[in-house]
Amino acid sequence: MSVKLRSVLITGANRGIGLQLVKSLTQTLKPEILFATFRDASKSQELQDLASQNKTIRLLQIDVRDHEKLAGTAEAVAKEVGDGGLNLLVNNAGISSKVAKLSAVRQQELLDNLEINAVAPILMTKAMLPLLEKASASNPNAQPGIGRAAVVNVSSILGSIGLNDLGGMYAYRCSKAAINAATKSMHLDFRKAKIIAIALHPGWVRTDMGGTKAPLSTEQSAAGIISLLESLSTQHSGKFLQYDGKELQW
Ligand SMILES: NC(=O)c1ccc[n+]([C@@H]2O[C@H](COP(=O)([O-])OP(=O)(O)OC[C@H]3O[C@@H](n4cnc5c(N)ncnc54)[C@H](OP(=O)(O)O)[C@@H]3O)[C@@H](O)[C@H]2O)c1
Repeated sequence: MSVKLRSVLITGANRGIGLQLVKSLTQTLKPEILFATFRDASKSQELQDLASQNKTIRLLQIDVRDHEKLAGTAEAVAKEVGDGGLNLLVNNAGISSKVAKLSAVRQQELLDNLEINAVAPILMTKAMLPLLEKASASNPNAQPGIGRAAVVNVSSILGSIGLNDLGGMYAYRCSKAAINAATKSMHLDFRKAKIIAIALHPGWVRTDMGGTKAPLSTEQSAAGIISLLESLSTQHSGKFLQYDGKELQW
């Protein structure tokens, strides 16, 4: 399948799944412009090296909690993408509280998980919406998909209420259930503009967050995600999908 992805923005792209998506996308779908965000230059050497070798990669320094800076970020993106707009937003940056038990959970980690995993991607999407609308409108004859405009909210199977059979993990589960709820609203709100919105479980992946026991490498997860991205169409929008395309219960 060959679908043209012109521009993409990936948050949390300095390590883990985000960094792998940058690497794999530049080798496969080869977007013309790939915005990769990082927050701490001292922890982003590999991303910086990639960007110095590949001029399609544009680095943006963002702490996703810095909501006041979102308008400036959207302006910087707008300048580079021009009339073509932004085709794909991947809200990937996330944290996971290590505390599993209710007896140990604290207010601050509940709030931190909610802020980074749910509030931030909602506000990032709000800031980028005019650019996504522009991308979709600039390609009116294409089928809905990444050739027009799409939002991918990187969620987790741990945010599924239906599949929760172990309990615990209040902070992380609630934050991912919240972004799942937001994804459904985005899907409904964006239908008219023909912008797709999905919640994505990347699989259990060997990253700092996923740990060494995870079954999937970042390469395997990214390869699945990219095939899914290529196939995205109206029928996927408003769904909670796994990296291999399987639909998950909310
Ligand atoms: N790995 C898994 O098994 C798994 C499973 C299900 C879902 N997920 C989801 O997949 C996404 C990526 O996870 P990962 O495994 O790649 O995690 P990771 O290796 O821990 O990387 C997390 C990324 O998010 C960034 N980030 C965190 N807080 C941020 C903030 N305030 N502002 C900007 N960036 C911030 C980090 O940047 P810094 O380096 O600056 O901290 C880093 O780039 C997350 O949304 C996660 O919940 C992962």
